[in-house]
Amino acid sequence: SLKNTGKVRWKSPSNIALVKYWGKKKNQVPANPSLSFTLDVCATDTTISYHKLDKRTTGFSFDLLFEGKLKSDFRPKIETFFNRIDSYLPFLRVYHFKIETSNSFPHSSGIASSASGMSALALCLMSMERELVSEMDTKFFNKKASFLARLGSGSACRSIEGPLVQWGNHSTIEGSSDFYGIEYPYKIHEIFRNFQDTILLVDEGQKQISSSVGHDLMHGHPFAEQRFGQGHSHLSDFRSILADGNLDKFIKIVESEALTLHAMMMTSHPYFILMKPNTLEIINRIWSFRETSKAKVCFTLDAGANVHVLYPEQEKETVYEFIKNELLHFCKDEKHICDRTGLGSKNL
Ligand code: PMV
Repeated sequence: SLKNTGKVRWKSPSNIALVKYWGKKKNQVPANPSLSFTLDVCATDTTISYHKLDKRTTGFSFDLLFEGKLKSDFRPKIETFFNRIDSYLPFLRVYHFKIETSNSFPHSSGIASSASGMSALALCLMSMERELVSEMDTKFFNKKASFLARLGSGSACRSIEGPLVQWGNHSTIEGSSDFYGIEYPYKIHEIFRNFQDTILLVDEGQKQISSSVGHDLMHGHPFAEQRFGQGHSHLSDFRSILADGNLDKFIKIVESEALTLHAMMMTSHPYFILMKPNTLEIINRIWSFRETSKAKVCFTLDAGANVHVLYPEQEKETVYEFIKNELLHFCKDEKHICDRTGLGSKNL
């Protein structure tokens, strides 16, 4: 018989893609493989307190508190998620869940919270499975947590471990899967184990398009096949770059991936421009600074206007000085987050 009550808690980070996931098939299967840095500071902290119901429910029984307040607008997302994972977690309809969740970053910052939020939730549910149903080793636990997180939000499957996670079938990456993320299985040069990511909050508004709308735009997109092929070859290129710590090549691919992501949005039907004038100002300043200083700094973008400035730990002082002097005035109230690569989720 199942336990009556219990409580589980996880903190799970966000991640930033180096090779972008943009376009998907049925059941959250990515159209091309992706690779990301797991972040450290940007994270979601989620607690689930559960108690057993008298009988199985037809729907799902849960309350959702976001930063201490009941939040009804997140309910449909969780309903959809529960429906997708129902067949993998037999206890879902036997419990009432009180889900309390909070983010380390401002909600309206335009920073995607779906990766950290959905991975934290998936991890809590896996802890329940371990307590209620069966013991399992960490390897299996993480794999299934990533599998479930993917069904909440694709990129969430890359937030369980760190500092580098790969997701999606790729012919030369052993163990790669469309169904879950894996820790990048080949040599990673020390320089990529402590990389800095200063996130510049250019636009605090909500994203103009949701990522599910964005992924859909890749169906019938005139450049879809070329783009998916490019994702595959960029991932192949990363093998030696990551092993050797070749920052010049790293920069070329990372920036190209960011611009291609936005190029896909600009060339779809309907089309979107998610960059703001200040996004371009920042990119141009980064390029001039790199030219004159020879610092190994580059940018990447999500599906929005904010800029992630990436640089190695050794260059922290000079690059951050540059960011403060030349970039912060392009941000809303100089808002930014100093993040870095992290090792993944934590059980609290
Ligand atoms: O996980 P989703 O469905 O929100 O998609 C995320 C897409 C990008 O952030 C733009 C790219 C990526 O690989 O994270």
